[in-house]
Amino acid sequence: MTLPARVQIVEVGPRDGLQNEQQPISTATKLALIEQLAEAGVSYIEAGSFVNPKWVPQMAGSDEVLQQLQRRAGVTYAALTPNLQGYERALACGVSEVAIFAAASETFSHRNINCSVAESLARFQPVLATAARDKVRVRGYVSCVVGCPYEGEVAPAKVADVARQLYEMGCCEISLGDTIGVGTPASVTAMLEAALQHIPVPQLAVHMHDTYGQALANIYASLQLGIATVDSSVAGLGGCPYAKGASGNVATEDVVYLLNGLGIEHGIALDRLIAAGSYICQQLGRETGSKVARATLA
Ligand code: HMG
Ligand code: MG
Repeated sequence: MTLPARVQIVEVGPRDGLQNEQQPISTATKLALIEQLAEAGVSYIEAGSFVNPKWVPQMAGSDEVLQQLQRRAGVTYAALTPNLQGYERALACGVSEVAIFAAASETFSHRNINCSVAESLARFQPVLATAARDKVRVRGYVSCVVGCPYEGEVAPAKVADVARQLYEMGCCEISLGDTIGVGTPASVTAMLEAALQHIPVPQLAVHMHDTYGQALANIYASLQLGIATVDSSVAGLGGCPYAKGASGNVATEDVVYLLNGLGIEHGIALDRLIAAGSYICQQLGRETGSKVARATLA
């Protein structure tokens, strides 16, 4: 077993973390959160989402957020773009990287982006072509890589097939999302082994929701396979509006603590990260979802 020497954290709090929030969150608060994350050393921040604002009202202000944020050298500020219209909005705001998102489940694909998996891949073609012209990198998500809220268990072969197609279409990295957090190290390992047959390990990332409390175990299992990119959300905020009960992403603080214990580099100052988490929790009037933050602040 060789663990990676360094892990890239992809901080999805300002997007995946906040997209599900019902209460209004000002652009100033979103910007302050992003700034505090960057200050803590987070070098990749998913800062917004250029989806249909009628579908996800909380992300309607992403144009403002991406336009106004203070860009720091060495930090990637990315956003979700479900189609060419979203891509063009994102580009106009100066994003440095975008993400398209497909699913390994047909029903989830319909509920989340209103089309079949095949239709979604066809819809991503022009996004990838335009982004290649603009020299903008495109990350590809696959949702429901272990289970689907509508269809139940998802076969590793189906995940590997969608991941392979996104990769062959030109995505620079594929993030495999356990959207409803049902995976365990056994099912996650089987799924990753299937994906690894088509995609080199440096181009794979894991995106674990912690709904069933398995996220850290699943991340550790992923590290053991050499996965060196991990998505997480400060304070464990998050959930997908189209996956009922899909509570928090794994907390970035908890992942950083795990990596510290394993002697794996990540570039993030845990105390500053905890402070960023406290800030957003205070703004939301909510307890942190990070056990590490709770223990540290107790
Ligand atoms: P649609 O309704 O099928 O789109 O939505 P359409 O092309 O038929 O257009 C309908 C209307 O939407 C039109 O406006 C378009 O202009 C507008 P109208 O003529 O009715 O006034 N529209 C847009 N407006 C702004 N920006 C756009 C855009 N596109 C269309 N980009 C669509 C299809 C994909 C757009 C919609 O289903 C959608 O926005 N879905 C997003 C759902 C979402 O954001 N889900 C959460 C993110 S995914 C996630 O959380 C999982 C992840 O974290 C990984 C994991 O955990 O597994 C990534
Ligand atoms: Mg997610």
